[in-house]
Amino acid sequence: MNLEPIHPEFGARITGLDLSQPLADPDFDQIDLAINRYSLLLFEKQQMTDGAQLDFTRRFGPLEEEHVSYYSRGEVTYIGRVGNIDSAGNRVSARRIMASTGNEMWHSDSSFRETPALYSILCAYEVPEEAGETEFASARAAYRRLDRATRERIDDRVGIHDYIYSRTKVGADAVTPNQRTYMHPVRQRLVRRNPVTGDRNVFVGSHVKQIEGMPEAEARLLIERLINEVTRAESVYRHRWRAGDVMIWDNRCVLHRGCGYDAEKYHRRMHQTRVRGAVPSIAENLDS
Ligand code: OGA
Ligand code: MN
Repeated sequence: MNLEPIHPEFGARITGLDLSQPLADPDFDQIDLAINRYSLLLFEKQQMTDGAQLDFTRRFGPLEEEHVSYYSRGEVTYIGRVGNIDSAGNRVSARRIMASTGNEMWHSDSSFRETPALYSILCAYEVPEEAGETEFASARAAYRRLDRATRERIDDRVGIHDYIYSRTKVGADAVTPNQRTYMHPVRQRLVRRNPVTGDRNVFVGSHVKQIEGMPEAEARLLIERLINEVTRAESVYRHRWRAGDVMIWDNRCVLHRGCGYDAEKYHRRMHQTRVRGAVPSIAENLDS
């Protein structure tokens, strides 16, 4: 197994591993360390199946249920469908395409859950011939760039993350009545720290509505400033997908967004799994 960085600030390509087979413990341990250090890992030319993806995901911890079917219909599934093709091979509804454009805002997966997702894993099966990239940026590198006064201003703050707030930005009917009933705003630390490496990062994204105890206008400015710092052009890694690509990213410290594509013209089918976070971010410790 070999590792080479794919961006100066974060991210690495790992070669020499077949993820469709059970991983030997030493290989898994290297991947586990690499995801803590690099925040984003790319494996290419993989022959994945849902079973192999679920097995790989479970090595990192318990699965997180897919949230759209869970909160809309009470259904527990662990494979999220990303793109425009459903499990029967049909194109998904226009409403679902519209709702998924919410992923084109910079976000961290499941930050609207009390215990946000640890990692997301995305396997590409069908990709559009043009566009449909996914962009990633390191919220850890961004924290390092902040001046000391800003760090001190944000270190002990709490952000309010709200799916209804972020999804209704793309259209009032992007959320279902059940989502409105069952999804409530949650509190997350504005600054998190990786327990393995000790690195701190800002924790922001499209779901952040407010900062607790801060006047709204000031909070909005600060949230936008932090998102802009994370996602400044030279800090973005833009991934052009190929079928067989598998990516895993650390939602604690990476923001990502979809770039859009022509859903009328092309098929895009990627399967997503997520590793459940261990503790609510609010219970994390910044100092030890
Ligand atoms: C995701 C996501 C963006 C994309 O899978 O979590 O945000 O490019 N995807 O589809
Ligand atoms: Mn996402």
